[in-house]
Amino acid sequence: MEKARVMMVGDVMGDPGLEALEQMLPPLIRENAADFVVVNGENVAAGFGMTEALLQRILAAGADVVTGGNHIWEKREFWPVMDTENRVLRPANYPGGCSGRGHVKIKKAPADGGPALSWIIINLQGRELMTPIDCPFKTFDSIINNQKPEPSDGGPPLVLVDFHAESSREKEALGYYLDGRASLVAGTHTHVQTADERILPRGTAYITDLGMTGVTDSIIGMDPKICLDRARNQVLYRMECAKPGPLGSAIRGILAEIETKTGKALSIKRIT
Ligand SMILES: [Fe+2]
Repeated sequence: MEKARVMMVGDVMGDPGLEALEQMLPPLIRENAADFVVVNGENVAAGFGMTEALLQRILAAGADVVTGGNHIWEKREFWPVMDTENRVLRPANYPGGCSGRGHVKIKKAPADGGPALSWIIINLQGRELMTPIDCPFKTFDSIINNQKPEPSDGGPPLVLVDFHAESSREKEALGYYLDGRASLVAGTHTHVQTADERILPRGTAYITDLGMTGVTDSIIGMDPKICLDRARNQVLYRMECAKPGPLGSAIRGILAEIETKTGKALSIKRIT
């Protein structure tokens, strides 16, 4: 059985997260013979957004595609990069008129050689407890329904979804909605890795949140003192990324195996 191995890595938090990614991702890709790697980078610029230089460092560390979320808009100078670089995505369900793209189709030869596989990566964002943008469910349908199969695809394109959302209920709902139509649905945004990874009934690998890549002694990657003051004083002090403490930094995400003929997931396991 032909299998593809995919890694998805959760939100990279600032410089400590990027340094952890640069140190740990290349050996993980080698050891696991990963064929395709997706990294969420919306927090890489000190917790808020992305820059072109930081995007290039994430790609150089081994990402094939870098996904975004609500913070992708923080650096206005990054917007033109989203228009020209197809390896960076922002959520597809922002209403029309904003920069960038929400999905991309990429052909890539597997790690052990052989014919290229077709991958479709889709970035979506939730609406519960977040900005009420367009419907992520309908947006997925319209992206998939507009795909035209190409003879060079080989098999069915393998569909990977980063769902950047606050509500675990909405994340699981999208997982079940896409079950059998996407190979993998992984949640991001809440930064705490969940232990609910599983294969859904029709063959989609699913996890509610990949977790964040960054400093472990932190509150979602941020300085604990500032977050604590925010929570206790109910004042929105500007947050800053945490500095590495005794527990150091970690890369967090998943590794999944997908049957290339059918696009069904065979396994999913957490990486911490
Ligand atoms: Fe994030």
